[in-house]
Amino acid sequence: MTETATTATSDTSGLDKWIVAGRGWGARAKEWAYLFEPYALPANQLVLDRVGVGPATRYLDVACGSGFAANLAHRRGATVSGLDASEDLIDIARARTPDGDFRVGDMFALPFDEGTFDAVTSFNGIWNRCDEALDQARTALSDDGLLGLTYWGAHERMGLMPYFIAVIQHSPPSHQAATMELGETSNVMADMLRATDFELLDQGTVEVINEWPDVDTAVRALAAAGPSVPAIEAVGYDNFCEALREVIAPLHDRTGRVGVRISSELGWVTARPT
Ligand SMILES: C[S@@+](CC[C@H](N)C(=O)[O-])C[C@H]1O[C@@H](n2cnc3c(N)ncnc32)[C@H](O)[C@@H]1O
Repeated sequence: MTETATTATSDTSGLDKWIVAGRGWGARAKEWAYLFEPYALPANQLVLDRVGVGPATRYLDVACGSGFAANLAHRRGATVSGLDASEDLIDIARARTPDGDFRVGDMFALPFDEGTFDAVTSFNGIWNRCDEALDQARTALSDDGLLGLTYWGAHERMGLMPYFIAVIQHSPPSHQAATMELGETSNVMADMLRATDFELLDQGTVEVINEWPDVDTAVRALAAAGPSVPAIEAVGYDNFCEALREVIAPLHDRTGRVGVRISSELGWVTARPT
């Protein structure tokens, strides 16, 4: 069974899961792209270094969102491809990197030929129970290619935990379990790699920081993340934002001299095909 990074509660019967996920992540695409996605810059650069992305690397980013990491790879001289379930996010990726090959699609059915890429990454895109996406990445990689992945790290170093708790509290029970399960990725990644014919090369953690000028901007950004969608559909956008405001306001510097600054940990791995 495959899971996507979010599902929505509106009537989506008959639609493929990846299309539903893409609609959720794309619902507030500009907020995600410009107010959230750049937080992962230290993780993006670290993983691009580790998988050797540079001039002429044939590079693919799976679940590439609005193409922030793909643009960093482009700036290094790589030949860039990206795939995401959200058409709205892919529009932004194309605007960011007009030379890139960006596709709307499903990471469980990648539309690329076998052995096309020297480096494949996914930044918080391939989660617990997404083994089939790793299989697909393995097929798209050349035999001497490298894979790099990130996922949420230790709960105790997760400054965004109050956000995830708010999501869980306001989502229907079926989505609560899914959100919890996605958060367990760090415990299962080594097993997932082994099961999909990858050899783990290296792993570690990296601090990432969300910074926003004020609480309202923080709330706008957090409400744009895919996991917010079921909560918004359950309680309404304004109510969910009010709940977020309550958990984010205490994190804001009371002097008003600096903005909201939230530190979290991402785990990362690199691997090669066996
Ligand atoms: C946490 S976001 C990560 C986006 C980007 N990689 C980043 O670092 O910000 C997860 C992304 O996975 C995409 N996604 C979810 N399920 C997918 C699927 N089955 N196939 C392709 N993309 C998917 C969403 O549209 C979303 O852009």
